[in-house]
Amino acid sequence: MPEMLVLPPDSFALVTGASSGIGEAIAERLAARGVSLILASRSLPKLEALRSDWSARYRVAVETIAVDLSEPDGPARLWAATEGAGRTVSLLVNNAGFGLNGAEAELPLERTAEMIRLNVGATAELTHRFLVAMRSRRSGWILNVASTAAFLPGPWFGTYSATKAFVLSFSQALHEEARRDGVTVTCLCPGYTRTGFQAAAGMKPADETPLFPVMSAGAVAEAGLAALERGQPVVVPHFLDRLWIASLRLFPRSFPPRLAAAFFRRSRRQGA
Ligand SMILES: NC(=O)c1ccc[n+]([C@@H]2O[C@H](COP(=O)([O-])OP(=O)(O)OC[C@H]3O[C@@H](n4cnc5c(N)ncnc54)[C@H](OP(=O)(O)O)[C@@H]3O)[C@@H](O)[C@H]2O)c1
Repeated sequence: MPEMLVLPPDSFALVTGASSGIGEAIAERLAARGVSLILASRSLPKLEALRSDWSARYRVAVETIAVDLSEPDGPARLWAATEGAGRTVSLLVNNAGFGLNGAEAELPLERTAEMIRLNVGATAELTHRFLVAMRSRRSGWILNVASTAAFLPGPWFGTYSATKAFVLSFSQALHEEARRDGVTVTCLCPGYTRTGFQAAAGMKPADETPLFPVMSAGAVAEAGLAALERGQPVVVPHFLDRLWIASLRLFPRSFPPRLAAAFFRRSRRQGA
C-alpha cells in the first residue's frame, strides 16, 4: 500500500456494501495490503464467507456487521458497533447503494424512497459521524462511491442520477473542508461496471450496453484507492467516460438529458 494510506496501528477500514461488486473488490485489495477490515452489508453469510477466506489468505483481522443502511437507524447502529464501541475507523468507504431504471411515475415509491435513504441518507450520515472522529484525530480517509450518472440528469434513471449528484457535490465540498483537518475525502465515479448493480436496477447486463465503456469491479477499485492515496477529490476511472463528461460543457444544458433519455429509455431489461 502506498505510504499515505498506511492506517494507524489497531485501526480499521470500514467498507459498506462489502458483500459483492465494487465494495468487495475494494475490501479485498485493502486486505491484500494488510489493512484490518470491518465489512458491512445486509447479508451476513456472504460477509462471513469473505471473512474466513481473507483472514486465512491475507492474515488480517476481518470483522463483519449485518446492517440495513436504508433503515432510518441503520447508520447510527453501524456507528455504535464500530467507533462507538471503541474501534478506530481510519478509512471509511461509503459504497453501499443501488439504482432503479424506469419511468419515475411507474417505479414503486417505497423502493425509490429506500434508494434515497441508502444512497444519500446513509452516505451523508456515516460521512458526518466518522468525519467528526477523524477530525479530532487529525487523520483519516473517506472514499464515497458516486457514479458517472452524477454528472448528467438521466431521464428513466432520474432519482438514481440525482442521488449520485448529491454524493459528488457533498464529497467535493467536504474534500476542501476536511483536508484542512488532515482528512482526505475522495469521490469515486465509476461508469458501467460488471456487478450485481444492473440486475438490481432492472437493467440489461453491463456488457449489452452499446454506448458506454464497461470495466471490472477490480479495475474500478484500484482506481478509487489510487485516487484516495493521491489525495484526489474526484476520480472517473475510464478515460472514455472522462471524455464524454468533459464534452458536456460544450452543449446547452437542455441537450445532455435528451441524449441520456434516448439511452436509459432502452436500457431497462424486458420484464424487469
Ligand atoms: N456497477 C455499476 O455499473 C456502477 C456504476 C456506478 C456506480 N456504482 C455504484 O457502486 C456502488 C456499489 O455497487 P455495485 O456495482 O458493486 O453493485 P452490487 O454488486 O449490487 O453491490 C451493492 C452492495 O451494496 C450492498 N447493499 C445494498 N443495499 C444495502 C442496504 N440497504 N444496506 C446495506 N448494504 C446494502 C449490497 O449488499 P447486501 O445485498 O448484502 O446488503 C452489496 O454489497 C453503488 O453505490 C452503486 O451505485 C455502480
